[in-house]
Amino acid sequence: MNHQLSSVIDVRSDTVTKPTKEMLEAMMLAKVGDDVFGEDETVNALQEKAAHLFGMEAALFCCSGTQTNQIAIKVHTQPGDEVICSELAHIYLYEGGGIAFNSGASVRLLPGDRGRFTAQKVIENINKKTDVHFALTRMVGVENTVNKGGGCCWDLNELKKIKAACTDNGLAFHLDGARLFNALIAKGEQPAQYGNLFDTISICLSKGLGAPVGSLLLGTRSHIEKARRIRKVFGGGMRQAGFLAAAGIYALNYHVQRLSEDHDKAKSLEQLLLSQNYVETVMPVETNVVIVKLRDAFPMEVFLTHLQNKGVKDVSMGKQLIRFVMHLDIDSELFERLCTVLSAFKG
Ligand SMILES: Cc1ncc(COP(=O)(O)O)c(C=O)c1O
Repeated sequence: MNHQLSSVIDVRSDTVTKPTKEMLEAMMLAKVGDDVFGEDETVNALQEKAAHLFGMEAALFCCSGTQTNQIAIKVHTQPGDEVICSELAHIYLYEGGGIAFNSGASVRLLPGDRGRFTAQKVIENINKKTDVHFALTRMVGVENTVNKGGGCCWDLNELKKIKAACTDNGLAFHLDGARLFNALIAKGEQPAQYGNLFDTISICLSKGLGAPVGSLLLGTRSHIEKARRIRKVFGGGMRQAGFLAAAGIYALNYHVQRLSEDHDKAKSLEQLLLSQNYVETVMPVETNVVIVKLRDAFPMEVFLTHLQNKGVKDVSMGKQLIRFVMHLDIDSELFERLCTVLSAFKG
């Protein structure tokens, strides 16, 4: 039980979790040093642990998933290059225009099934290198799970085909794995299956895994050396970051397997919502995210006010779209209360 749990049921995101007592204890005991000099042994241990887990050569501890994604894009591109990603991609929609701002790259957005596109679509959208009219296609980015796709998971076989298309065309392949562990748990896959496929992977410790801060960029030694330099230029070099890295190590040790509990709650929520008269559809639930579309007769603002009055914090994901995210700090009691509040809404 998290001693910091409040009575507010905050289902806006899995980023809202507070460190547990055990995690805080691990943080307090961390051995630290100056990480810009590479001397923080806890940061080094976290980086080695994560790289090893994914079977990749190296890793870099960063302050956020936005930072790891943006560093990766900068590593792979030059100004004027083009990045291929989904029209729902976080790297495009929710990182402040960072692809243009940080890397001066343009973006080719692909349609798809809740953020998942095919290798064929990638191939069709690679610009011809020899025609000077076109930006040079340089990188493909995918997101697993897809946040705006309702936490859905990619099919590993399609990712393998995209990898082959990238290899054939000299493109870098980056994974925004902010919630990759949710996908691994949901599909019974292993981290190394992803480490094999991607040039760089971003994983977040501060979402489902419950750490207060931190993301890791994984890749080859040379990509990570370049990333370390870019992180410094972005102002992201941290000093005694081992206190935060200790939370990350704790999260990787103790908070991965339990993600299935969040998935179970999300599944129950899906069933409950499907039986409510105010619900038009629910995106099929695969992990910890539930996105529901309200019927037009039930204005979203009225619904959100009902939630707020009953102590539930939530946000909209677009017109009549509401997202509920299950996480470490929604225990069984809070979950039951959430279900009662949702069943009580009559419009
Ligand atoms: C899919 C995805 N990628 C990247 C990020 C960015 O992470 P951060 O908030 O740590 O910058 C998020 C944040 O919610 C996300 O959902």
